[in-house]
Amino acid sequence: MKRLLVVAVCVVCLYIVLAVYSISGRGRSSIQPTEVALIQTEEVRMENEPTTKAKVVHFLKGLNQTEEVHMENEPTTKAKVVHFLKGLNQHTWTKNCQRSLEQLCNFPIFPNAPDSRSIVKNVYITSSVKDVDGIRLLGFLRPNVTGEYLFTVASNGVVEVWLSKSISWKDGAKVAHYPTKPQESSKLGVKLAAHSTYYIDILYARGSENNDGAQIQLSWKRPDKNAFEVIGGQYFAPYNNDSDKAQMKVYDDDLPDVLACASLRLKFANKHMKSETTSYLESAAVSKALNFCEYKPSYLLDPANLVGFGQYHGVYRHAHKTYSFPYSNVDGIARNPAPGPAFMAENPLEEREARSIVDKYVASLEKSYAGKYKFRSIKHVEMKADPQKGKRYLLELVVQDLTDGKIYLLSEYVFLPNGKDASLCYPSGLQWDKKADVFLILTAKNLGRWVHHFIKNVEKIVQETKDDHLHVVIYDFGSPDIDIEQAFQRSTLKNYHFIIKPGRYSRTNSFSEAIKSINNSDAIVVTIDLHLDIGSQTINDIRKHCSKGKTVYAPQIVFLHCGGSSNMPRGVWYHYSYGTIAMYKRDWETFGGFSQGFFNKVTWGGEDWDIIDGAVKGGLEIERKRAPWIYHYHHTKDGMWQKR
Ligand SMILES: *[C@@H]1O[C@H](CO)[C@@H](O)[C@H](O)[C@H]1NC(C)=O
Ligand SMILES: *[C@@H]1O[C@H](CO)[C@@H](O)[C@H](O)[C@H]1NC(C)=O
Ligand SMILES: *[C@@H]1O[C@H](CO)[C@@H](O)[C@H](O)[C@H]1NC(C)=O
Ligand SMILES: *[C@@H]1O[C@H](CO)[C@@H](O)[C@H](O)[C@H]1NC(C)=O
Repeated sequence: MKRLLVVAVCVVCLYIVLAVYSISGRGRSSIQPTEVALIQTEEVRMENEPTTKAKVVHFLKGLNQTEEVHMENEPTTKAKVVHFLKGLNQHTWTKNCQRSLEQLCNFPIFPNAPDSRSIVKNVYITSSVKDVDGIRLLGFLRPNVTGEYLFTVASNGVVEVWLSKSISWKDGAKVAHYPTKPQESSKLGVKLAAHSTYYIDILYARGSENNDGAQIQLSWKRPDKNAFEVIGGQYFAPYNNDSDKAQMKVYDDDLPDVLACASLRLKFANKHMKSETTSYLESAAVSKALNFCEYKPSYLLDPANLVGFGQYHGVYRHAHKTYSFPYSNVDGIARNPAPGPAFMAENPLEEREARSIVDKYVASLEKSYAGKYKFRSIKHVEMKADPQKGKRYLLELVVQDLTDGKIYLLSEYVFLPNGKDASLCYPSGLQWDKKADVFLILTAKNLGRWVHHFIKNVEKIVQETKDDHLHVVIYDFGSPDIDIEQAFQRSTLKNYHFIIKPGRYSRTNSFSEAIKSINNSDAIVVTIDLHLDIGSQTINDIRKHCSKGKTVYAPQIVFLHCGGSSNMPRGVWYHYSYGTIAMYKRDWETFGGFSQGFFNKVTWGGEDWDIIDGAVKGGLEIERKRAPWIYHYHHTKDGMWQKR
């Protein structure tokens, strides 16, 4: 075969349909292999014949099928030609509860990790499968007549059709939607050029009321026709050949985002998921404001005397409630049916009480640092009461450093001992480390797309917070649906490591080993559940509630109902779940982690409560309060665990 050298790139971006090739011998898919090669004219020069010109293919994304082709005047010369598939990629979303466009767009693994993929001939879909919630169809439209086109779409759900002016998804505009309002009957014409390629994206959601299979029908009226007709498959080319991913729910970094989603996402920003922009004052910068006092609540257990301690007493009896001002409410999160009193994590703190403590503290601060700090406002106050000894507060105040005018967050624990004349003091050991290393640990099997989402999630947190002390550890049981090394390498994360060991999923073993793999005992380790959206405020929230040798933090998170998301919360506080637990690694080592009975466990249940037991028996205090920046998604139970 003689080699061709491409001399000039693209004379004009002119595509011509060159010839008909039939490709045989391939497996059946939902579409027949292409018969038409899409060719772009380019000037090329044969190696030994500088004057010969030939036609060379233009490469769109993927879909290259290398074929040998004879050149017009030289039947013996062969060149490479690209064949394009016809049709569109169809990405289907099933059983995720996302039934409106808003819900789909705000689902964290949408659009990158659909439940199934195929290539369909055209947009004339009548499916009888009942659990399809959403469908995305994407690819390219290639008309063969220049002029003004009209589009119309019909469906049994909600559909938006977005067409770009180019092959880029970012150039799109909505050209049709369903349902339409009566006054929208006159349709907007779209000018298209023959043989040009336009990116097209069609998004369907079945709606909350519809329980039938999906139906979508996309038609156009061509400039040379008088009537609407379903757009034929020969005018479509899929975005890429994703048949290798069809059987697995993988997360695909290379998929374009959905332009239709941009506004639907912005509309539902959750204020709790916004990052904090103000920097914290170091404890040392305000250490002279109060004296230090010993901190040892009377309700802590003495590890040398555990008489009467029974299984799960940790969560039932020793997780003392936090009171907060303002009270952590999330719109859309119902006050659920009252949980057992032991599981209430947080109650409102009276504003009067919060203000009186702040006033006392600010008076001391401004006196001890005359001319240095000016109190601006209260951000947040938390209180825990020890009836025998007194009350502990976490004060989070916005203060200004008068020497340079900068605004800071002052976030310090203070203690008010019982007694009339008692004055505030700083509880020793509770000065939280603003720069503590935090290791988020995720363990998984066969849920690659959610592991991928977690990596993306931490990436976003690091981008927002520039936190150099945040690390990630993933323990994976050899899942075939993710290449963890590649996922990390393609991310912007720097602080990570991972362990891959095939076998049955065991939450206890994987967390124990992952924690063991962390070399820094002065780091905070955090067990993370899958199916979460984690806001960037979580990381400092963890640092605030973990003090070495003192406290272990088990935030109460939001359990989203079917269809809810962190942007559009609908759900309840997850009273009984202790799936996210944070503590210093040294403390984990001191009390010994999971108890013996939980080792090698491959079924779900009880292990998180067991950690709390261990911590309580180790003399540690359990911090339990609401974390309105952690959302747990509703999901099907398929995949990770062995059936009992
Ligand atoms: C298609 O071919 C072009 C040129 O050879 C190459 O750069 C591109 O990576 C190929 N794409 C795929 C998906 O194979
Ligand atoms: C466009 O393509 C259709 C279907 O292949 C064909 O019937 C029609 O003649 C073409 N029109 C032009 C102007 O090439
Ligand atoms: C699509 O990709 C699969 C797997 O990578 C391959 O077997 C198939 O031939 C490709 N189809 C086309 C038309 O290139
Ligand atoms: C921990 O230390 C060991 C021994 O020095 C080293 O081999 C390993 O790579 C370290 N692990 C991490 C995650 O840094």
